[in-house]
Amino acid sequence: MRLKPLTVLFLTGFLLFASGAGATVPKEPKKPERPAEPEGKCMTCHKEKTSGLYYQWRESEHALHNVTCFGCHGARKDEPDAFVHEGAYIATMVTPKDCGQCHKKESEQFQASHHAKAGQILDSNDAYLAHVIGGNPVAIAGCASCHGAKMEIDPGSANKLKPGSWPNSGIGRINPDGSLGSCNACHVRHKFSRRQARQPETCGKCHLGPDHPQKEVYEESKHGITYYTNMEEMNLDAERWVVGEDYSVAPTCATCHLSATKNMPVTHDAGERISWNLRAPVSHLQDDWRRKRQRMQRVCRNCHGSVFYEGHYRQLDGFVNLYNEKFAKPATRVMEILRENGSLENEANFSNEIEWIYWELWHHEGRRARHGAAMMGPDYAWWHGVYELGKHFYFKFIPAVRETGDEEAIGFLDDLLANDPMHNWMNRNTDELKRGIKSGELQELYEHMFTPNLNE
Ligand code: HEC
Ligand code: HEC
Ligand code: HEC
Ligand code: HEC
Ligand code: HEC
Ligand code: HEC
Ligand code: HEC
Ligand code: HEC
Repeated sequence: MRLKPLTVLFLTGFLLFASGAGATVPKEPKKPERPAEPEGKCMTCHKEKTSGLYYQWRESEHALHNVTCFGCHGARKDEPDAFVHEGAYIATMVTPKDCGQCHKKESEQFQASHHAKAGQILDSNDAYLAHVIGGNPVAIAGCASCHGAKMEIDPGSANKLKPGSWPNSGIGRINPDGSLGSCNACHVRHKFSRRQARQPETCGKCHLGPDHPQKEVYEESKHGITYYTNMEEMNLDAERWVVGEDYSVAPTCATCHLSATKNMPVTHDAGERISWNLRAPVSHLQDDWRRKRQRMQRVCRNCHGSVFYEGHYRQLDGFVNLYNEKFAKPATRVMEILRENGSLENEANFSNEIEWIYWELWHHEGRRARHGAAMMGPDYAWWHGVYELGKHFYFKFIPAVRETGDEEAIGFLDDLLANDPMHNWMNRNTDELKRGIKSGELQELYEHMFTPNLNE
C-alpha cells in the first residue's frame, strides 16, 4: 500500500514535531532556478494524454516531494534544446546537470566517473569495427544505446532533438548543455526508485553478453544464488541501505560497487573500488590501486573474514597474471611483429581473419575468464573462459600465424612452444604429464603466478 502525499506530509510534520531533530525525515526539495510551474497544467493534461507516464511519476518519491513535471523538464529559453510546449519553455532531455540542481553530490561524482566518459569511444577498435561492418544504424542501436550518443540538436524540428541521436539513454551520453551521461541509464523513469537501482537487473542492460558477462557471472555465483533465493530479506525499499546493518543475506552489484557500508558512503563513481583493469588486452593495475582495493574489502568484511577475502584476491591476482603472461602478452607481441613486418595480406584492420581471432582471444574469452575469476563465476573462469582461450590460442591463432609465413613471428612461437615451461607440454608424454600433475611437479610451474610483482 502506498500513502497519499497529504497523509505523508501530515505524518512527516508530526514526526518532525515529535522527534524534535528529525534526522531521518526526508529533505525538503531544493528549489531549482527555473520559472514558476504553469499552474499544474502539465499534470492535468498528461494524466489524460499519457496516463501510464503520469502514474509512474505519481507513484514516485518526486511526486511525494512535490517535484513536478516542470521541475525537471522546465527550461530557459536560451538552452539549446528548449522549445515551446503548451505555452511554456521545456526540454525533453533531463541531464545530470538538471538533476544536479537538487542532487549535486550524485551528479558531481557520476560525472567524474569512467561511466560518464563511456560515450567517448569513437577512437576505439570496437567503434572502427562497428562502422566498417554496420555503419551508423548499427552504431546507434548497438554501441550508443549502452555507451551513449552525442546528442544532436535540429533547430528546425518541433522538439529540436535529431531523430538519429534521440532516443538515447546511454551511460556516457554527450549532452548539448556540456554535461556527460544520463542518470536514467540506471534510474528508470518516471519512478526513479532506489529499490530498482539496487537490483542487479539495473546493470544488466549493459553488463552482459559474450564480452563482459558480469550479470551472468553474478547469477551463477554464490552471491547471486543467495540474492535470488532470499530477495524478500534484502530490505530493498529502505531509505538507508547499509550492508551488515539494514540487510545481510547477499550483496548485489550495487552493494559491492556503489552502496554504503558502516564506514563508507554511497558513491556514484563505480571505479572507486576497482584495482585491476580487466577489460584491456593485457590487464594492468589502476593508479592508486591499493586504496581502491581496500575500499572494496570494506564491503567484503561485513560478511567474510580477512583470510577469506584476501585469499580471493590472491586467487584473482594469480589468475590475471597467468592470463597476461601465458596468453595475452605473447599473442599481442606476435600481432605487433606481423604488423611491423607488413605480413598481413590486406591492409585495413580486421580485413584478415587472424585479427578477428586475436580480437576474440582478449575481448571475448579472455575477458569472460577474468570477469568470472573476479566475481566468483567458475563456469565463466573456465568453460566460457580459459578453456576457449586455450583452444583458440593453440588451434586457431597459432595455425593462422603459420599461414602468414612471417619467419620472425613463427620463430617467436616455435621458441615459446619448445622452451616455455607453460607451453611445452605438447611435446611431452601424457603419462609423464599426468604423473607430474599428481606429484605436484607441474603445479610448481604455475606457483610463481600467485606471487605477481604488483609493484611493477
Ligand atoms: C494540453 C495538454 C498538454 C499540456 C498542458 C502539456 N502537455 Fe506535454 N505533451 C502533451 C502531448 C499530447 C504530448 C505528446 C505529443 C506527441 O505525441 O507528439 C506531450 C509531450 C510532452 C513531452 C515530450 C516531447 C517530446 O519531445 O517527445 C514532454 C517532455 C512534455 N510533454 C512535458 C510537458 C510539461 C513539462 C508540461 C507543462 C509545462 C506539459 N507537457 C504540458 C500534452 C500536454
Ligand atoms: C525527476 C525528474 C523528472 C520528472 C519529475 C518528470 N520527468 Fe519526464 N523525463 C525525465 C527524464 C530523465 C526523461 C528522459 C530524458 C533523457 O533521457 O534525458 C524524461 C522523459 C520524458 C518524456 C519523453 C520520453 C517519452 O517516453 O516520451 C516525456 C513525455 C516526459 N518525460 C513527460 C513528463 C511528464 C508529463 C511529467 C510529469 C507528470 C514528467 N515527465 C516528470 C525526468 C523527469
Ligand atoms: C550491451 C551494452 C554494450 C554494447 C552494445 C557495446 N558496449 Fe562497449 N562496453 C560495454 C560495457 C559494459 C563495457 C565495460 C566492460 C568492463 O568493464 O568489463 C564496455 C567496454 C567498451 C570499451 C572499453 C573501454 C575501456 O575503458 O577500455 C570500448 C572501447 C567499447 N566498449 C566500445 C564499444 C563499441 C564501439 C560498441 C559498438 C560496436 C560497443 N562498445 C558496444 C557495454 C556495451
Ligand atoms: C550506474 C548506475 C547509476 C547511475 C548512472 C546513477 N545512479 Fe543514482 N543510484 C544508483 C544506485 C545503485 C543507488 C542506490 C544506492 C543505495 O542506496 O545503496 C542510487 C541512489 C541515488 C539517489 C538516492 C540517494 C542515495 O545516495 O542513496 C539519488 C538521489 C541518485 N541516485 C541520483 C542520481 C543522479 C542525479 C544521477 C545522475 C547524475 C544518478 N543517480 C546516476 C545507481 C546509479
Ligand atoms: C527539484 C528538485 C529535484 C530534481 C530536479 C530531481 N530530484 Fe530527485 N529527488 C528530489 C527529492 C526532494 C527527493 C526525495 C528526497 C530524497 O530522497 O532526497 C528525490 C529523490 C530521488 C531519488 C531517490 C528515490 C527513492 O526511491 O528514494 C532518486 C534516485 C532521484 N531523486 C533521482 C533523480 C534524478 C535521476 C533526477 C534527474 C532526472 C532527479 N532526481 C531530479 C528532488 C529532485
Ligand atoms: C547503460 C549502460 C550501463 C549501465 C546501466 C551500467 N553500466 Fe557500468 N559500464 C558501462 C560501460 C559502457 C562501461 C565502460 C566505460 C568505459 O570504460 O569507457 C562501464 C564500466 C563499469 C565499471 C568499471 C568502472 C571503472 O572505472 O573502471 C564498473 C565497476 C561498472 N560499470 C559497474 C556498474 C554497475 C554496478 C552498474 C549498475 C548499478 C552499472 N555499471 C550500470 C555501461 C553501463
Ligand atoms: C561480491 C562483490 C561483487 C559483486 C556482487 C559484483 N562485483 Fe563486480 N567486481 C567485484 C570485484 C572484486 C571486482 C574486481 C575488482 C578489482 O579489480 O580489484 C569486480 C569487477 C567488476 C568490473 C570491472 C571489470 C573490468 O573489466 O575491469 C565490472 C564492470 C563489474 N565488476 C560489474 C559488476 C556488475 C554489473 C555486477 C552485478 C551483475 C557485479 N559487478 C557484481 C566485486 C563484485
Ligand atoms: C552481504 C554479505 C556478503 C558480502 C558483502 C560479500 N559476500 Fe561473499 N559470500 C556471501 C555468502 C552468503 C556466500 C556463500 C557462503 C557459502 O558458501 O555458503 C559468499 C561466498 C563467497 C565466496 C565463495 C564462493 C564459492 O563459490 O564458494 C567468495 C570467494 C566470496 N564470497 C568473496 C567475497 C568478496 C571478495 C567480497 C567482497 C568483494 C564478498 N564476498 C562480499 C556473502 C557476502
